[in-house]
Amino acid sequence: MTEHLTVVNHPLVQHKLTLMRDKSTSTNSFRQLLREISLLLAYEITRTLEMTTKRIETPLQEMDAPILEGKKLALVSILRAGNGLLDGVLELIPAARVGFVGLYRDPETLQPVEYYCKLPSDLENRLTIVVDPMLATGNSSVAAIDLIKAKGARNIRFLCLLAAPEGVARMREAHPDVPIVTASLDERLDDHAYIVPGLGDAGDRMFGTK
Ligand code: URA
Repeated sequence: MTEHLTVVNHPLVQHKLTLMRDKSTSTNSFRQLLREISLLLAYEITRTLEMTTKRIETPLQEMDAPILEGKKLALVSILRAGNGLLDGVLELIPAARVGFVGLYRDPETLQPVEYYCKLPSDLENRLTIVVDPMLATGNSSVAAIDLIKAKGARNIRFLCLLAAPEGVARMREAHPDVPIVTASLDERLDDHAYIVPGLGDAGDRMFGTK
């Protein structure tokens, strides 16, 4: 991918996102919409995967048919909200290896604190797609990608549902080699580092917690 930021303006993505933003949308519907939208976002982020051909025989004749080149992908979910996006992406790319990075945001400093990290062992040979619905300050995403690069990943893409300009700028500064795909670039962060207009706390909305 050549663009650092891709906003997926597909009508289905934008329609589903509006339903997800609406505070009257139930937990159940929110989860279902997130699954649907993550399929569409996964379609976009995999658009430029490298291809090769394979000689096959159709019932009519032989042909060189296109197939994906290279090793299987790795998906890395930033816990816990990342798992909501992960489910849909994994449905589209079922053979992907999956890793998890657990980070929570210290409410005072807003800095990410690592509490869990389990990653596939051979990331250097795989395209790694990191998933987290909300790119807010960018602190968690930058920290997670720091960890993933330290484990050898070289070819990384970042998938989120909403991005704030502050988070995009932070990612561009720390990881300019990591393209971002999102459904929306929102206006700003509020004083509590929530994305505005946003959709609230993605984890709480998808798991029904408060
Ligand atoms: N995380 C969320 O869940 N929501 C925001 O608006 C920002 C970070």
